[in-house]
Amino acid sequence: MKRIAVLVSGGGSNLQALLNAAQNGQLPHGQIALVVASKPGVFALERAQKAGVPATVVARKSFANTAAFDAALLEELQKENIDIVVLAGFLSIIGPAVLAAYPGKIVNVHPSLIPAFCGDGFYGLKVHEAALARGVKLTGATVHLVNEITDGGKILLQKAVEIKPDDTPETLQKRVMEEAEWQLLPKAVAMLCAGEM
Ligand code: GAR
Repeated sequence: MKRIAVLVSGGGSNLQALLNAAQNGQLPHGQIALVVASKPGVFALERAQKAGVPATVVARKSFANTAAFDAALLEELQKENIDIVVLAGFLSIIGPAVLAAYPGKIVNVHPSLIPAFCGDGFYGLKVHEAALARGVKLTGATVHLVNEITDGGKILLQKAVEIKPDDTPETLQKRVMEEAEWQLLPKAVAMLCAGEM
């Protein structure tokens, strides 16, 4: 059984998709053992509590520099014997200490078809605003391994989602989550836990 940590910064709907998958037996080789939030008060923490999963806050701004933040995050992961780290809307950058401790074991979900609309500054609604501004007809989501390049690691799974003429960033974000992210992320995590990726 692989011990999974899910790192969150906001609403935590992707965390919920993982919790539901675990509940439904779709994560047979993994256990969600820890939730780490990048700030207090986020709704994702309530989801963790409701599911009975231990949760903690590691906030970048509580630390003097990124190295101290990186060390604190690594300590939380190691304290819980975490094997696999899932970034589910986590908006802080993962530092070299955590990357070195988990080579090929950190995954991120990004709300576009990488390499479109990704990299520094592309997160959350901004990604969908950019896709609509460019006028693309298809977007989607990507689950990829995390390395030192923002959204630059090996692509594991992708799914396309159609853009509709009357989409707003909000309606598009919702459809990309429902049709792609909430399906791809549990699937990729299950495969990683099973040693299939
Ligand atoms: C999701 O759409 C996720 O793909 C995105 O933030 C949202 C978090 O929602 N992540 C990024 O943009 C990372 N670059 P959630 O808190 O409801 O899961």
